Amino acid sequence: MAHLISPSLLSADFGNLQRDIEMINKSDADWIHLDIMDGLFVPNISYGFPIIQLVKKHAKKPIDAHLMIVDPDRYIDDFYKAGANILTVHYEACNHLHRTIQKIKSLGMKAGVSLNPHSPVHLLSDIIADVDLVLIMSVNPGYGGQKFIPNAIERIKELKKLISDKKSKAQIEIDGGVDNTNAKILVDSGCDVLVSGSYIFKSENQIETIKGLKNLKF
Ligand code: DX5
Ligand code: ZN
Repeated sequence: MAHLISPSLLSADFGNLQRDIEMINKSDADWIHLDIMDGLFVPNISYGFPIIQLVKKHAKKPIDAHLMIVDPDRYIDDFYKAGANILTVHYEACNHLHRTIQKIKSLGMKAGVSLNPHSPVHLLSDIIADVDLVLIMSVNPGYGGQKFIPNAIERIKELKKLISDKKSKAQIEIDGGVDNTNAKILVDSGCDVLVSGSYIFKSENQIETIKGLKNLKF
């Protein structure tokens, strides 16, 4: 199946959020990526429910919520009510990941788990069959516009093998520093979903930039 594009709104113009969501609606993007940061799990604070509800009101594509928060179980119901379609929690933020994943799925959302750059892929060995998506961080989470960490490519290949060995149906999503220099190798290495923030929103023609990521033609 063709890979998906999930533009990260973290790099959007917050004074013109509706305009930027409508740009995504019109584009070849498949999902809309929302980065939720609590100032504890990561050093930054992004945005909360009023913004998520506003995004949901205007978005015509699935909401791909990436929770960079401690103890995400506290808010699973709230993210469901706010309209998340895919809910991804961090491996490093969950004490009872299996329970968290089951809860997300019981509400009808796709359940994802994310790994920070330092967390070995094999940590997912006993949960991989239960998750719908694995998000590999290719930067340390917290900010847009950081430099891609190249060993993410080896990690993607290792994850692809784990998914196949365990007969999992999980999709692989990559997040951080994705642009025209690495998109093709990431897809060739097994990524199903490319998240991209600053590369899209800093470009002059955002619709064309998304099209380039989709067609891998730059
Ligand atoms: C980082 C976030 C990313 C970020 C990606 O913590 O999870 O989604 O917005 O931005 P770029 O593509 O600029 O690295
Ligand atoms: Zn993200």
